[in-house]
Amino acid sequence: MNIKNIANVDNETAKYIKLETERQKNMLEMIPSENYASKAVLEAVGSVLANKYSEGYPRKRYYQGNKYIDEIELIAIERAKKLFKVPYVNVQPYSGSPANAEIYLALMKPGDTLMGLTLSYGGHLTHGSPVSMSGAVYKGVLYDFGEKGKIDFDELEKLALKVKPKIIVASTTAYPRIVDFAKFAKVADKVGAYLLADISHIVGLVIGGCHPDPVPYAHVIMTTTHKTLRGPRGAMIMVTQKGLKKDPDLADKIDKWVFPGLQGGPHDHVTAGIAVCLKEAGTVAFKRYVKQVVANCKVLASELTYYGFDLVSGGTDNHLILIDTHNKGINGRLMAIGLEEAGIILNRNWVPKDEAPPFFPNGIRLGTSALTSRGMREKEMKKVAAWIHKAVEAMKTLEFDYKTWVDIAYGQKKDPQKRKRLDSTFYNLISICPDIKKTAQEIKNFCKRYPVPGIDF
Ligand SMILES: Cc1ncc(COP(=O)(O)O)c(C=O)c1O
Repeated sequence: MNIKNIANVDNETAKYIKLETERQKNMLEMIPSENYASKAVLEAVGSVLANKYSEGYPRKRYYQGNKYIDEIELIAIERAKKLFKVPYVNVQPYSGSPANAEIYLALMKPGDTLMGLTLSYGGHLTHGSPVSMSGAVYKGVLYDFGEKGKIDFDELEKLALKVKPKIIVASTTAYPRIVDFAKFAKVADKVGAYLLADISHIVGLVIGGCHPDPVPYAHVIMTTTHKTLRGPRGAMIMVTQKGLKKDPDLADKIDKWVFPGLQGGPHDHVTAGIAVCLKEAGTVAFKRYVKQVVANCKVLASELTYYGFDLVSGGTDNHLILIDTHNKGINGRLMAIGLEEAGIILNRNWVPKDEAPPFFPNGIRLGTSALTSRGMREKEMKKVAAWIHKAVEAMKTLEFDYKTWVDIAYGQKKDPQKRKRLDSTFYNLISICPDIKKTAQEIKNFCKRYPVPGIDF
């Protein structure tokens, strides 16, 4: 992007935008909730639409001058309706977390029960966790996968019959397998609950036919727009025919809880970005892209398994992989830090039955959405897996006592000050490790061959 004007006004901010641009170009971005938006989407987000205020909805605004903004919001809505085959869409939510809150406000009263997947099994904070408003205002009852590593729908039904939830959330944020919306619907329908499908992660896969469609089963669907959809940071709430049948006022209720319930003026520049990304998502090229994301992820998973990584559930059906780092003897936090030094960006993550607190989880989560947006395919995934392996092996050779670190971070000898000192030792060792440095250089050279959409090379 051209940031000449920023540089003229504000050199400090420009400097860091430039550095971040270089970072995005020179490293392997593998956080599964991230992606690269196209230049067209970035242009929309950086446009004059950011200047406008338009509280309300198209043709029903509280401010003047919204003639063109109305058209843009209507285009976004119509595109989403067509793409997902739903009768109602709200494109104003600022992001996924407020969108979920808006749905809860529309469908529940404070103190009502919602059921969502627990965090360590791949659920999201906004699905009833006590540390989020979803579990503080409502009664979050969290389910997990039980012993078999899969949702036991008989158990889910028993739990639902017992706690009588108003909403069951069928959604994951760190789960490498298919979400069976039909089975969730059977349980929700039996107990009279609303089924909310939060498809923030898998939305692109749903559009591309690589994941079952929630539309026939869910009453309400929420998605963020910045993950596999490759749009701007935002979210959409959709109501299905099934949802309107259960409650004909559902769409109105959601509209009211988005504005004025929780939000003020919509971010019109983001709405334009959503309109553009939905146009892109309707193309054959996008369908090809998501198929490649999944194919890449499968190759990456089998290569990582070959290198002895312990994949939660044994593999992947979607765009992401969750690795349990116990067998490598390196905590997920340290592994993620070490891999960053090697040029590989992913996030640490809880794994099922993790004994560690969330800040020091024993897992890492990685995906192929962003790398595939750069044009990487199966053969490149083999290289990526080899680099991850090489970097982790290099970490193992460091003169660093990973076991003591665990004891000090969250074990028997817990000592935050000492842990910070040990962290510094780790940073120092990793920053001078020759194999890590070599990997970072190799990755930098490799990345030059794969342009980042939205960045001029
Ligand atoms: C399934 C799911 N829902 C909701 C959210 C929240 O989205 P945001 O970070 O845009 O608030 C996320 C974000 O990672 C998510 O994965």
